[in-house]
Amino acid sequence: MTVTTPLIGAPIDRIEGAEKVRGAALYAAEHPVDRPVYVFPLQSRIALGRITGIDATEAMAEQGVVDVLTHENAPRLASTQDAELAILQSPEVAFRGQFIGGVLAESAEAARRAANLVRLSYEPREHDVSFHAARADLVKPDEVNGGFQTDTTDGDVDDALASAAVLLDATYTTPQEHNNPLEPHATIAIWSDNELTLYDSTQGVHWVRDSIAALFGMDPQRIHVVCPHTGGGFGSKGLPHAHVVLAAMAAQLVAPRPAKLVLTRQQMFSVVGYRTGTIQRIRMGSDASGRLTAISHDVVEQTSRIKEFAEQTAVPTRLMYAAPNRRTTHRLVELDVPVPSWMRAPGEAPGMFGLEVAMDEMAIACGLDPVEFRIRNEPETDPETGRPFSSRNLVACLREGAQRFGWAERDPAPRAHRDGPWLVGTGVAASTYPVFSMPGSRATIQARPDGRYRVLIGAADIGTGAWTSLTQIAADALGVEMSEVVLSIGDTDLPYASGAGGSTGILCWGSAIVDAARRLRAELPSSSPIPDEGVEVTGAIPDNPYAGQMSMHSFGAQFAEVRVHTSTGEVRVPRLLGIFAVGRMINAKTGRSQLIGGMTMGLSMALHEHSVVDHRFGHVVNHDFAGYHIPVNADIGSIEADWIDEHDPYVNPMGAKGIGELGIVGTAAAIANAGHHATGIRVRDLPITLDRFL
Ligand code: MOS
Repeated sequence: MTVTTPLIGAPIDRIEGAEKVRGAALYAAEHPVDRPVYVFPLQSRIALGRITGIDATEAMAEQGVVDVLTHENAPRLASTQDAELAILQSPEVAFRGQFIGGVLAESAEAARRAANLVRLSYEPREHDVSFHAARADLVKPDEVNGGFQTDTTDGDVDDALASAAVLLDATYTTPQEHNNPLEPHATIAIWSDNELTLYDSTQGVHWVRDSIAALFGMDPQRIHVVCPHTGGGFGSKGLPHAHVVLAAMAAQLVAPRPAKLVLTRQQMFSVVGYRTGTIQRIRMGSDASGRLTAISHDVVEQTSRIKEFAEQTAVPTRLMYAAPNRRTTHRLVELDVPVPSWMRAPGEAPGMFGLEVAMDEMAIACGLDPVEFRIRNEPETDPETGRPFSSRNLVACLREGAQRFGWAERDPAPRAHRDGPWLVGTGVAASTYPVFSMPGSRATIQARPDGRYRVLIGAADIGTGAWTSLTQIAADALGVEMSEVVLSIGDTDLPYASGAGGSTGILCWGSAIVDAARRLRAELPSSSPIPDEGVEVTGAIPDNPYAGQMSMHSFGAQFAEVRVHTSTGEVRVPRLLGIFAVGRMINAKTGRSQLIGGMTMGLSMALHEHSVVDHRFGHVVNHDFAGYHIPVNADIGSIEADWIDEHDPYVNPMGAKGIGELGIVGTAAAIANAGHHATGIRVRDLPITLDRFL
């Protein structure tokens, strides 16, 4: 039972890795089911209005077609409160691409072919998909995503700006971007005896269960959601979207046969959420010595008219720097568009682009090095709440990163470094992400007479390594080898678990497992033998007594080298370095992958991603990988992620902070800042395409 090397922090290989490589790990659409009916969604071709006629004669005549589901024959939902999920309940259309029906057939091909044969007529109304900040109809939401205040004010910003020695007033924009996990969203739904089983690609089986239960008016206990593996989600699989509802409705019609629905890449651009575009006006004032006196961050962003989503873009600005006068605001433009949702570091990713480019501009205006400027404006306590930070090591990350990146040799003058036809520059930006916690997670541990420990929790592995790190946490807490722990996750038959969202997964599930292990050790001292029937205990995520008293965040420093071609404007990023402060790292291997994955997505945000809306029709034109660009291997040079030693006993029993989202935060700003250093051209609008430098 004695373990010599510390398990926590060790670079353990994924325990399910071989299964995945062999193709034996089952993803949602791959679960073997008997005689499934395939569902292909019907999508609205207008952006606003109503359906006036449906002619399914031709579609029904196609070989293999079982049924055509529309608002005329769809099951009635118990709750229509959530207008994104309450599909097929009326002829009304709220955005282009909305699910308005589905074709059910014996094969996926037949369903898809017949979907083109359903004749729909519409009565369109004039739609509005025009996102800009000068609109007269901006809406102030009651709160922004995450339950944060919409607006905050401290001190007198206008007064401080008016008397500032150095002043910045600039507007930054980030475009609409779409979540594109490798595995498309997929659901198999089966109704039998008034029970619903869902094999669903999700970030949280219990969250799916509870939200589908409310929609269909069912006891959650009668819904069984299964998802042992998820091929990425980036937030778009955090909560169920319309396809889950359509699959469940189809299954109701063909019960007891299963209904299977796999979204196409193009369909994902209409119904699974996306990152709203943002327009951010930032004003900063400082004194002559480069100490910030005022920061104002005013954000306008887009939401759908049928369901509000308010990205918390300016929230990180509330705590980053020590300006005595601060103001943040969020306003929404309500449009006839699909419903925005979470996309990796919602809020922080776009907001820290604006803030950290502004910090670079301000440093230059003050005549200070951008690393030094940030250090000079480091707050002692959380500027927003006055609470102490449970740990804050931004300065240590900046110093360590600067040293490893070779920052000291940098000539601060823009356009100073040329290598043949390439202008070369370097840039820096800060990262941050909150240490959130979600309520409710529980874990059961069964000690078995064969010496093994079964650990049961309905957690999710979205490709991040949760199977492995939860096994590490359990083995460490029990004081046994990993081989003695048998983990079960991804099933609502297991104890309740919150979802993999807000970088909370390992923190919440791990805390419940540590609590269960503690209870087990109390009940079963290591000297006593395990009885024949075994021993079972259940633990829960404990209340954190420090939660309301301390400000809990991870931090990091991102460094980028950018090359811009003098004739073509082509932008290359040969080098990224991120140094992070994330408390205790659970698994050095999967953790590093999370961070460099985030940084890669940040590079993607910087240079590539942009969902382009056709205002005439209201849809995203580049709705596949032909037109929606993400980096390939050739676009990525050296990416290094590392972390400093950080001891934080306040955040949770493991002393760990979330790492899923931090890596994307700040990357785009570091690249934009390096682009300015290379060329002298300041790009304030993402993505940074080559035309910006010509
Ligand atoms: Mo994350 S965008 O909270 O799944």
